Amino acid sequence: MSTSDPRFSDIGNRLAGPSGIQELMDDLGEALSVHPDMRMLGGGQPAAIPEVQAIWRQRMSDLLADGTALDKALLNYDPPGGNPLFREAMAGFLKRECGWDVTRENIAVMPSSQSACFLLFNLLAGDSATGKRRILFPLLPEYIGYANQALCAGQFTAVLPRIEERGEHEIKYRVDFDRLRITPDIAAMCVSCPTNPTGNVLTPDEFSRLRDLARSHHIPFMLDNAYGHPFPGVIHGGFRPAWEPGMIFSISLSKLGLPGVRTAVVVADPAIVKALSNMNAIVSLANGNIGQALLLPLLANNQLLKIGSDVIRPFYKQRSDFAKDVLSSALGDQVPWALHAQEGAFFLWLWLKNLPIPAAELYRRLKARKVLVIPGHYFSFGLDQPWKHADECLRLTYSQPQHIVQEGLEILADEVKRVLGV
Ligand SMILES: Cc1ncc(COP(=O)(O)O)c(C=O)c1O
Repeated sequence: MSTSDPRFSDIGNRLAGPSGIQELMDDLGEALSVHPDMRMLGGGQPAAIPEVQAIWRQRMSDLLADGTALDKALLNYDPPGGNPLFREAMAGFLKRECGWDVTRENIAVMPSSQSACFLLFNLLAGDSATGKRRILFPLLPEYIGYANQALCAGQFTAVLPRIEERGEHEIKYRVDFDRLRITPDIAAMCVSCPTNPTGNVLTPDEFSRLRDLARSHHIPFMLDNAYGHPFPGVIHGGFRPAWEPGMIFSISLSKLGLPGVRTAVVVADPAIVKALSNMNAIVSLANGNIGQALLLPLLANNQLLKIGSDVIRPFYKQRSDFAKDVLSSALGDQVPWALHAQEGAFFLWLWLKNLPIPAAELYRRLKARKVLVIPGHYFSFGLDQPWKHADECLRLTYSQPQHIVQEGLEILADEVKRVLGV
């Protein structure tokens, strides 16, 4: 029997169909392997930062030198919520260095924050005895990787931002509290902070208001800290979100230069941690051990915070300033454009005001010229109607070597001028 046209379940079709995140990861993987001439301004690949790579090489050789530790890491299945020693050390680190009131019962290790979010969204929301429960994204645009993670139709809902124009070429998205309504079907709120794709960081006031709203409605406030606090710490201002009971924070090892180990940590109330760990047993049995083994000794002191503040954050700040300068001079004043304020993460979020073609078409034209970007519509989901603004936006990653970023941005500006006929 041929399986060239297999029949899938509804959930199968939902997960196996094409999606923005799959297109992004296919483009990214191919650009970094079989098409090295492609200028990759697409995926959220962390940069190769020599000081950081040296730390992981050293840790790997320490592990190799200590044969017992390596054998244990390679040979053993851990419990599904993570290695007990790692959970203990992680809780100690968060309590000591961040002041969060946590124990190891608040720590779940997960095989990536991508899978942690998938499990959380479907644990908390979807069809239930009391009707459909939804995840609310209070500040679009939001991470492309969430868009296809719901197992039920209508499981996600979102609120458009207030667009604050700050001078000719800068915007900042603000939570529109006038439009934000926590109706009884809302199961949780979720924000990535810094936000992928925009580099936005919630203001302390927005964070407190969202936390208080969630608390007063007895729902979790989820914060995805993939780029932020406590590591890799790519937040340029002074705000550092603090976990409190009732909240769910996700922290990834990926942007510390370790996407290959596929490891993340969820900080949550013990009941959520237990549920996640039970789900992980069903889906994955256990987590990969190598990421936990590499990180473990660095949790004993403030080294991870210092790598963030002294190495990783300044690296991305310099890259961000460079990319902004290149793009500003390449676009000039003939094209109406604005960038989102660069408050963290690895991206420029470009708004090409009144772009006459959808950003998806611009993406195709740029790919033909060997520049990969991500069109903005993928970051707009959970809405009843399309959001035209997102079709005028692109996300641009600046983590690749500077000459690639420069060439890519200059070709982008040239293509935009062609489109506009200027
Ligand atoms: C906001 C956000 N959350 C989660 C992830 C997934 O990270 P991980 O590598 O831990 O799955 C990413 C990856 O780019 C991200 O940008």
